[in-house]
Amino acid sequence: MNLRWRLALISSFVTLLALAALVIGSGLLLERVRLRDLDEELGVQAKVVMDEIADGTRSELSLSVADALSTAIGSSVAWVYENGQLMTGDGINAPEPLEPSFFSSPQTSSVTSHAGWRVYSLRRSAMIVQIGRPLAPLERVNLSYWRIGSATALLAALLAGITITVAVNRVTEPLERLAQRVQTLESGAPIPALGLRDEVGALARALEGSLGDLRRTRARETRFLADAAHELRTPVTALLTDLEHHAARPRSSSDDRAVLERSTRTARHLRDLASNLLTLSQTERGLDKRPVDMFEIAANVVDRNASLAAHKGLEISLDGHPAAALGDAVALERAVENLIGNAIKFTDSGAVRVTVGIHDQRVQLEVLDTGIGMNPDLLEAVFEAFERGAETRREGSGLGLAVVKSVIDAHVGTVTLHQHAPHGIRAVVSLPRA
Ligand SMILES: Nc1ncnc2c1ncn2[C@@H]1O[C@H](COP(=O)(O)OP(=O)(O)OP(=O)(O)O)[C@@H](O)[C@H]1O
Ligand SMILES: [Mg+2]
Repeated sequence: MNLRWRLALISSFVTLLALAALVIGSGLLLERVRLRDLDEELGVQAKVVMDEIADGTRSELSLSVADALSTAIGSSVAWVYENGQLMTGDGINAPEPLEPSFFSSPQTSSVTSHAGWRVYSLRRSAMIVQIGRPLAPLERVNLSYWRIGSATALLAALLAGITITVAVNRVTEPLERLAQRVQTLESGAPIPALGLRDEVGALARALEGSLGDLRRTRARETRFLADAAHELRTPVTALLTDLEHHAARPRSSSDDRAVLERSTRTARHLRDLASNLLTLSQTERGLDKRPVDMFEIAANVVDRNASLAAHKGLEISLDGHPAAALGDAVALERAVENLIGNAIKFTDSGAVRVTVGIHDQRVQLEVLDTGIGMNPDLLEAVFEAFERGAETRREGSGLGLAVVKSVIDAHVGTVTLHQHAPHGIRAVVSLPRA
């Protein structure tokens, strides 16, 4: 059963319940009030008759008393007994005596219901006056009330159900259109109900925001995949062309060496690219964090890059002391590798200095170079994947810093690049202590 019908049923049921309680409560109250009024009237009539017979008339009631017995809301019947003997009685269809138990009771007055009659009995010495009136008219009024009351309650419940269905329809209709539109994520068409000022409008606006984010993320992922494929294809094609070309013609040993060097460089670049892509996907999947010494990680990377730096005539050094961070050693080493790799790649003379230590209760790693530096406007932009800044002559894909950022973000750390006087870059990584 859908929401619309459920709400309609619930509201009808609740309305019916509330009205039924109201009708029953007020019906019972009305019944009691009417009976009380009747009792009072019968009591007054009994007294009038008793006073009349006290004046001496026994066998027949005077006309004025007979008048007093009939009222607009029904006529009463009077019986007069003396010492248990019926003296006067004009109720043809009334049961006799009207209220038998009163004859054996010591009470001076009572009011009861007896065989479909309401009976008021009054005793004064040897005289008993009983005034009765059939309950049928009262019951007829009550029955009408119950009928009208229940019909009204049923009708009101039905109306409540219909009203709620219409109201819920008006609410769910834009919701349904919304749901259909959400299924067709691709379509950039605006979401319906955006302009509504109610809760549906708020939901539509929230969805519009989330869908926008989702579309942007999808677009980013698609672009990333295309860029990654392109970056992988270019060096592989270059490598193949070189090798095929080289195999096809006679060659000297200097040719061999040149091709070998180029191929090694390209292969190394391919390996780094593959490592970076792997690290990126690992940070997406979640990292395996445990206490790791950043100094040790930096030492490994410096050792690995020492010959490359020496080959370029650069001095490379590591200062500081052990500093434990909570993190994934493999991913962190990849991040440090990218920073030190960049420092060596973009420095033609001078030195690369790496420092690890504790700063403001956080683990800090710094890579300082004396290289070509960077346009200050690009210091943040280069963290985007495949963003290579102005320097594109040197080998690279522009993925290294994106990996650094992704890894450090996953460790709740920060990474920033700064221009460093007179020239060069200072990369600073800050991580929470283990
Ligand atoms: N130490 C640095 N000195 C000067 N420029 C830098 C330095 N580090 C990064 N850059 C600039 O930022 C760009 C992005 O760096 P990133 O490491 O992301 O890519 P890449 O080094 O070009 O390629 P990859 O790291 O994928 O091999 C670089 O192309 C370069 O322009
Ligand atoms: Mg790099």
